[in-house]
Amino acid sequence: MVDVRQLSKNYRFQPVLRDVSFAIETGKRVALVGPSGCGKTTLLNCLGGIDRGDHGSITIHGLKLEALTLEELTLMRRKSIGTIFQFFHLLPTLSVFENVEFPLQLLGIQPAERKARVSELLDRVGLFAKQASLPTELSGGEMQRTAIARALVHRPSLVLADEPTGNLDSINGAKALDLLAELSDEYKITMLMVTHSHEATHICDHVFEMNDGMITSSIKNK
Ligand SMILES: Nc1ncnc2c1ncn2[C@@H]1O[C@H](COP(=O)(O)OP(=O)(O)OP(=O)(O)O)[C@@H](O)[C@H]1O
Ligand SMILES: [Mg+2]
Repeated sequence: MVDVRQLSKNYRFQPVLRDVSFAIETGKRVALVGPSGCGKTTLLNCLGGIDRGDHGSITIHGLKLEALTLEELTLMRRKSIGTIFQFFHLLPTLSVFENVEFPLQLLGIQPAERKARVSELLDRVGLFAKQASLPTELSGGEMQRTAIARALVHRPSLVLADEPTGNLDSINGAKALDLLAELSDEYKITMLMVTHSHEATHICDHVFEMNDGMITSSIKNK
């Protein structure tokens, strides 16, 4: 599903990713752990096609990202990738419903199907009753559940999550993790999740440890 080979990247001659290689099988969840500044977000951004490495290759679903044009990369991202951020990144002027609907609009999906899919997912994350609320009217846990719904609504094959529980208390963090595990099992989603939390590593099949731009260990969980 995901195959990264000898990926390297520098920021102003400073190496940030050094010869990173790994593969993730379809439907598996991987936790990426490591100290601040070691390159975790940069790696996620390269996989998500919003940043590019200097050397090496990334293959997602048989597509070599470095061989794609910018338009092809954008299309691949919209169709196949869902992203969850630490600070939720909801669009502040859109309602919960509209935030979750947004990825479907980008894909040109018709209104009736959009409504059906958004409603189903809002129901699953327990936010059906809050669909008309604005993000500012939500609790942190509700914001992150909205963001989870938005990341999954277009049924991506790959979800990239950067500290998805980093700004939640332990109860809401656990709720978000349960949802992520349950929905990614059900939709057969492959997931790479940056995290500092032990609880989050527990819902993953593998834990990759990163240090100084390199993957220094890979541990199988179960
Ligand atoms: N746009 C940029 N320009 C220059 N340097 C950058 C840029 N983005 C990141 N870096 C540097 O690259 C290194 C890796 O950053 P990255 O954000 O990937 O770390 P991280 O592992 O996600 O850290 P954290 O756990 O704090 O989020 C850091 O030294 C950072 O300062
Ligand atoms: Mg980061």
